[in-house]
Amino acid sequence: MKKLINAIKGLSAQEAGIFLTEIFSSSKENSDKFFQTLKYLKENNNDELIVFFKNYLKPIWLDDQIKKAILISQEQFIENAEQYHKVLLTVPETLQEMLKNTEIAKKQTLEFREMMKAGWKTAIHTDQMAGVPIPPIQKNVDPNQKVISLPEVDDSIIVNKDIFYCIKNRISRRKYSESNISLKALSYLLWATQGVTEVMFEGKMTKRTVPSGGSRHSFETYLVVNYVEDLKEGVYRYQPLDHKLVYLFDTENRQEKVKQAALGQDFVGHSAVTFIWSVIPYKCEWRYMLESKKIMLQDSGHLCQNLYLACESLGLGTCAIGAYDQVLFDKFLNLDSVDEFTLYVAPVGKPI
Ligand SMILES: Cc1cc2nc3c(=O)[nH]c(=O)nc-3n(C[C@H](O)[C@H](O)[C@H](O)COP(=O)(O)O)c2cc1C
Repeated sequence: MKKLINAIKGLSAQEAGIFLTEIFSSSKENSDKFFQTLKYLKENNNDELIVFFKNYLKPIWLDDQIKKAILISQEQFIENAEQYHKVLLTVPETLQEMLKNTEIAKKQTLEFREMMKAGWKTAIHTDQMAGVPIPPIQKNVDPNQKVISLPEVDDSIIVNKDIFYCIKNRISRRKYSESNISLKALSYLLWATQGVTEVMFEGKMTKRTVPSGGSRHSFETYLVVNYVEDLKEGVYRYQPLDHKLVYLFDTENRQEKVKQAALGQDFVGHSAVTFIWSVIPYKCEWRYMLESKKIMLQDSGHLCQNLYLACESLGLGTCAIGAYDQVLFDKFLNLDSVDEFTLYVAPVGKPI
């Protein structure tokens, strides 16, 4: 074992991982030797192996099952040697694939930097210039869908009116109680993030509580309602022009599904309400085409920041969620992932 540890000392975590796992998963004989060594180390209270696991293998991003096999304690490893040996057989392949992905990702990361830069100089005849009608501000409501009026927005429910206080105390809050928030609070949060303050050009454009490049406001707000007073649990869409909610559907294991779509982040599923902002890219592309991708991403930050500050002012908490499963959230909301897809998520609740 000492020889083995010496051999990998100069290697990177990934290289060491591949080297080690290839050795002890290569044959039954080797793996027997490996486990005998483990037993020896354990009997002699030698913690070198544990140090090895911590230093060399822990930083490696592996799937949960493999991680478990590698990072469990030495005692557990020995007790379940046979079972873990099977799992370890798959490690070299997983690591090789990860290294390959990393190489591709390095190149892509450099390419993606270009996306953050301003263009503006390319002469393009946009759909707006071509006279294509401006995309509608809000979706139509089917006559069978239930529409819910929201309480009027005023400052009567605001606990902290001091903007300095709200900015200073804003943090990401990830622990919420299971108590209801009021419908009036929800109404205020929707207004603060997407509320219409002015309708222009015969209803074709809006100004809102958040800025947006070219006032394109390319987002839809969906809500997963868990604990809101006077509002049935389920999934809703916000109609910004009307300041109303449209009830869309409810689904079994709603909270668990949202948690899974948020890559297992429990608090995203167990909020009072979770905001899911989708984007309809054409709303912006109609005017800006190549520049729109940057504008839409810039715009989405305004929504979430206003949600943070509005939550602070109500004594509620939120947390921006960028780590989510694109396919699962789009599927959850029945979005086609082409003309409309999930962009940003934010759970809200009473902080504990
Ligand atoms: C674009 C973006 C994506 C984020 N995604 C997540 C996330 O998926 N999960 C999470 O727990 N926090 C997420 N956060 C919250 C950050 O972790 C947090 O803002 C950061 O740690 C700074 O802490 P603060 O917000 O309390 O100042 C995200 C924040 C931003 C702005």
